[in-house]
Amino acid sequence: MHTLPGCTFVIFGITGDLAARKLLPALYALYDKGALPPQTRIIGYARSSYSDDELRERLRKALVQLGNPFDESTWRSLAGRISYVQGTYDQPAGFHDLRRALKESGHARWLFYTATPPATYHSIATQLAQAGLNHSTDGWAHLIVEKPFGNDLESARALNKALLDCFHEGQLYRIDHYLAKETAQNLAVLRFANTLFEPIWTNRYIDHVQITMAEPIGIGERGSFYEHAGVIRDVFQNHLLQLAALVAMEPPAKYDAKSVRNEKVKVFEAMACIHPENAVLGQYVAASGMQGYRQEKGVAPDSRQATFAAVQFAIHNWRWSGVPFFIRSGKRLSMKASEIVLNFRCPPHIPFAFPESPAPDQLVLRLIPDEGISFRFNGKIPGQGINIDRISMDFFYREHFYESNPDAYETLLMDAMLGDATLFMRADEVEAQWRIVQPLLERVQASEELPLPYKAGTMGPDESVALLSKYGHAWREPGNGQDKNDRGETHGSAETLLE
Ligand code: BG6
Repeated sequence: MHTLPGCTFVIFGITGDLAARKLLPALYALYDKGALPPQTRIIGYARSSYSDDELRERLRKALVQLGNPFDESTWRSLAGRISYVQGTYDQPAGFHDLRRALKESGHARWLFYTATPPATYHSIATQLAQAGLNHSTDGWAHLIVEKPFGNDLESARALNKALLDCFHEGQLYRIDHYLAKETAQNLAVLRFANTLFEPIWTNRYIDHVQITMAEPIGIGERGSFYEHAGVIRDVFQNHLLQLAALVAMEPPAKYDAKSVRNEKVKVFEAMACIHPENAVLGQYVAASGMQGYRQEKGVAPDSRQATFAAVQFAIHNWRWSGVPFFIRSGKRLSMKASEIVLNFRCPPHIPFAFPESPAPDQLVLRLIPDEGISFRFNGKIPGQGINIDRISMDFFYREHFYESNPDAYETLLMDAMLGDATLFMRADEVEAQWRIVQPLLERVQASEELPLPYKAGTMGPDESVALLSKYGHAWREPGNGQDKNDRGETHGSAETLLE
């Protein structure tokens, strides 16, 4: 764990949901582990009127109510470092008060975080610049920007331009918390710190790639946000394309922000746009005691927004030509699971007389739950003759490292304080991602077609199965290393052809 020089952390939107659910628990955990130096200061900024003590009490309650680990004396020590500035996001007065508070904090290292509605990002950056807080002569000023970065390619370009008028790229940290999940970070290590995997990481050996991000939750209190975003803007344009890029990018010369992000941009440029004919969109309907999307708070009764999507796209480069990538995600699915599956080609010749060909090898990279990796292949059942079974070599973080993995926000906050932008997105990356989903967004907007209904608690519309079956494949049912949809049950009595 790194230790840092003291800095002041400014959270815009301290009274909001993101601050309560993610940022404060992450800061608390870092403080508890001793990763934050004692000189750390946290300034909460929001529109409502609070005294410092009232804000501390509100944050304390949120920490406890949301079931985070909590120790009174640790909290008291952290709370003493928290203060509040009241202000709007588009007027200078609050930012002048903020400047005063930053001066009083005694640090010249400032980390600003926009935990506010996206419409405020531009004005926060502008007001920071006008108050002279976009640079720090004796330290640094970094701005972490939450997703979403725009609504489409055009608005993302406008937002990038607005941010870059006030800060330079090296100060901007566009967050995508999926990049900080340990399995996502481990992808680079698996591929580039071993000799075993990279030689087979190509269209010569890989048949197709699947990425699943399934969520059993509905949209909760986020109806009005989701009505606008839908599943494509919410998770495809960012988390899922980022995972695809980590799988598909070429080896960077160095593992640093510039080299890694250059490689990701290159692979995004090689990715074909997702076309509506290669996509299945769905919307959950009431089932198993759960209400349908259209009954959720803040959702129109005739909403056409998609809460599920399964898509197929290609990557047009030397390594991936001919390898389809399939990605699916949805709300109110039957499980919480995020995983990447590399499905290998069948061997060119099987010398055994099996009644059907054995299931192909699979490398499963699990982000949620049971973070880790499983390698699934065929092996001989002990005894006479050649009978095969599916074998799994499994690595689980919790079994190997014993400690639970840090939350992604802990990693990202530390990285932004340390000035390491490797796990954050650059302006050109964000724009490249919008380009890929743009045709799908346009079709959804223009079309009168409804997304296909699927019952809450299932894995989405049946049509998403057809997306793969036309290539002769099936979605892997996520699970902790136990394949459920392999064709590779024990094969009956097969005899070797080699006598
Ligand atoms: C967020 C999306 O970015 O990621 C949410 O806005 C989604 O809709 C969440 O639920 C999922 O994150 P995780 O880490 O729980 O898979």
